[in-house]
Amino acid sequence: MNVSIPEEVQTPTCPLITDEDVLKKIGNTPLLKMQHVGRNYPNVEIYAKAEWRNAGGSVKSRPALQMILDGEASGRLTKGKTILDSTSGNTGIAYALIGKLKGYKVKLVMAANVCKERKGLMADFYGAEIVQSSPFEGSDGAIRLAREIYNKDPDQYFMPDQYNNDSNWKAHYNTTACEIWEQTNGRVTHFVAGIGTGGTIMGNTRRLREFNKNILCYALEPAEELHGIEGLKHMASSIVPGIYKEEELDGKISIATEDAYTMVQTLEKEEGILVGQSSAGAIVGALELASRIKEGVIVTIFPDSCDRCYVNFGKFKEYAETHGNKIPKADS
Ligand SMILES: Cc1ncc(COP(=O)(O)O)c(C=O)c1O
Repeated sequence: MNVSIPEEVQTPTCPLITDEDVLKKIGNTPLLKMQHVGRNYPNVEIYAKAEWRNAGGSVKSRPALQMILDGEASGRLTKGKTILDSTSGNTGIAYALIGKLKGYKVKLVMAANVCKERKGLMADFYGAEIVQSSPFEGSDGAIRLAREIYNKDPDQYFMPDQYNNDSNWKAHYNTTACEIWEQTNGRVTHFVAGIGTGGTIMGNTRRLREFNKNILCYALEPAEELHGIEGLKHMASSIVPGIYKEEELDGKISIATEDAYTMVQTLEKEEGILVGQSSAGAIVGALELASRIKEGVIVTIFPDSCDRCYVNFGKFKEYAETHGNKIPKADS
């Protein structure tokens, strides 16, 4: 049957979304209040920023955009250059999205064990080129390989180097921390966030303390060197990012992989939200802090949702068993 569409409805009535509009959808994420998981601490409020609401689907869209804008402003990123960096996925997805909208090629180096959902988004959907490094060297292997590629042909590439780029933490200093201050009406007393590059914890800590010098800030770190919390780094066994300054923080809280994985399920059952492993780890850390302080307003970050990685602790253990207990390092 041949149905012709009447002329009056051929013109779309919904507003057209432009590239600029997509980039404006980075930042201003909702602050979620945890209603149930903190029930043992009635005088502590726990909140988390739903960073999957950024265009690009994660917290890393903020620094990726800032690094690209600052690269353009400084003249280091010009038309025809390829954006090159090491990333586990979230920053890569953000580079790939922003690069596509702004007309840059993007080349991403990551450990081969980064989950296929993330690689698929970057390569198949946004068209970035992926170079795989050793699954047993985690993000450090990816950092080394990206540097090698860059050094062979520096004129061809713009390498933001998220681990050493001040624009990374400044993205949080300029946006995330201000949102937290406003969304809590200045009531925030504690801030906790996982460490990957350190951008989130450093930028928020610096700005929140300008608002109120008494706010206490803690980094969350996987308890073991070989862990399964994608996105986080175990500092003692890693190349320490240049932008991460532990001495500025009030302390670190360790999170066991198994607790973070269990918390993914708890958050789904009790709060009705499906988050990624590092987000669940953030709540494990926030609850540990709640048990110490008994009173206060804790804010943390949910870097991404669960849609990018299949979370299954059984699979993690099964992999270790079938690979002589050689667990690939989770990546940042
Ligand atoms: C899922 C996830 N969680 C947490 C982080 C840590 O954020 P940051 O790099 O700002 O320390 C990252 C960073 O890549 C991430 O991908």
